Amino acid sequence: MSRIGIMSAMVEEMNILLKSIKNEKIETIGQREYHTGKLFDNDVVLVFSRWGKVAASSTTTTLINNFRVDKIIFTGVAGAINNKLNIGDIVIAKNLYQHDFDASPLLNKHVLPHINKKEIPTNKALNTQLIKSAKQFIATQLNNTITNNELDVFNISTPEIVYGNIASGDQFIKTSNQRELIRTELNEVEAVEMEGGAVAQICYEYNIPLAVIRTISDKAGSDAAIDFPRFVENIAGKYSYKIIENLLSEIN
Ligand code: ADE
Repeated sequence: MSRIGIMSAMVEEMNILLKSIKNEKIETIGQREYHTGKLFDNDVVLVFSRWGKVAASSTTTTLINNFRVDKIIFTGVAGAINNKLNIGDIVIAKNLYQHDFDASPLLNKHVLPHINKKEIPTNKALNTQLIKSAKQFIATQLNNTITNNELDVFNISTPEIVYGNIASGDQFIKTSNQRELIRTELNEVEAVEMEGGAVAQICYEYNIPLAVIRTISDKAGSDAAIDFPRFVENIAGKYSYKIIENLLSEIN
């Protein structure tokens, strides 16, 4: 039977999902707690990825080798690189880059050694199901899940769902210089975060289907600081919960 690894970049997101897990068992490996059990009738392993590419790749490898997951869904928040994106929009990754990887002059900037390419694609079939689950959430469940007051606090009205590229690196992007560098160097990047590219590299090497979904939490350098814990708890965590519920009902 299929076993799905669900990695959350924010511990608050995982905690919301854990409220619905059945037959939960917890195993600690390398300071990470892996929660196995049933979620919406599927065998799952939930884990907090921890932050950054090194941490997330180690968590991914343990999910694959110790817990034998046969697919991985990654959820979290991201900063917008595309100017058209707003806080509360959703990006589903088509390809993932590592924007801070640079082995030049041995390899062109961003080319990953051994794999010999810059971008790693996610799994098409999972993406199709994830896009459908996200559309269902925005069209029919958003307003029953999150209060208008909470949506207003973050200026969210009709969130967009974008299927496009995401770049990852070991930096929180907070200045317009950092942001412009990523935009000019990499092709059509929608959003930036700190784990997806690393998880994609491991999944590619182990041939494990992967999907990555991120809620835009900030504009990567060109906005005032938002209340991050409030955003994750009241917006991004609820998005993830409902979208994962829709997806697992579909997969089942
Ligand atoms: N995750 C959410 N916002 C981010 C940003 N601006 N840079 C990197 N990772 C992020």
